[in-house]
Formats: sequence, C-alpha cells, structure tokens
Amino acid sequence: MSARGSARDLARLREDLSFEEEAVKQYGRMGARAVDPEVKELFAELIRGESGHRRGLRRVIERVEDPATPVVLFCPLCGWELDFGPDPQEGAVAKCPMCPGRFALRLSEGDDWQLERLEP
Ligand SMILES: [Fe+2]
Repeated sequence: MSARGSARDLARLREDLSFEEEAVKQYGRMGARAVDPEVKELFAELIRGESGHRRGLRRVIERVEDPATPVVLFCPLCGWELDFGPDPQEGAVAKCPMCPGRFALRLSEGDDWQLERLEP
C-alpha cells in the first residue's frame, strides 16, 4: 500500500504512535520519581512494552508509506483480498478470486482508497 489512498489509516497509526511515545515519556518520568526498586522496575517494564509498540507502529507506518507495498483491500462481498499491486492508478479494476465481485479502485475526497462495485 502506498501512502496515496491511505490517509485515514495513516492518521490512526500516527495517533497511536503519538500515544505510545507519550506513554514512554510519562513512564520514564514516573520511574525516575519512584523510590521503591520494585516500582522502578515496574515502570522500566512498562517502558519496554510501550517501546515495543512504538517500534511496531513505526514499522507499519513505514510499510504503508513504502510505494513498493501493494494496495490490498477486502472484497465487500466475501472478505477475500483484492490486490491492486503497488502504486495503482485510480480506476484500476480487480476481480475477486473467490466470488463474482468486480471492483474499480476509487480515491475519496479524503485520500482513501474505496471500491466501486462493477457489473460482473
Ligand atoms: Fe469476493
């Protein structure tokens, strides 16, 4: 999936990333103020967990932004994957490999890919 057509997904991912970054900072401040070694360790453990989420979200965002990543949407009739390949043109057509569904790729005003059902 290229960044084009992924505005809503990227906005949500960046929102989640921002939350994880803030959590790492907050836990760091709380851990620094803690006196009890067990409480310090608890915050250190929380930081490790949130840091893992942060790394994972960064990787997903990079993949979504990578023009080599194919645009894959799900067939609204059966749920199977519709692969439009990397960097498709608006209007590209895909036939669902599992059902009679045929769809054209459309770009919404908000820059999100949508499917328009075509006659079989
Ligand atoms: Fe389908």
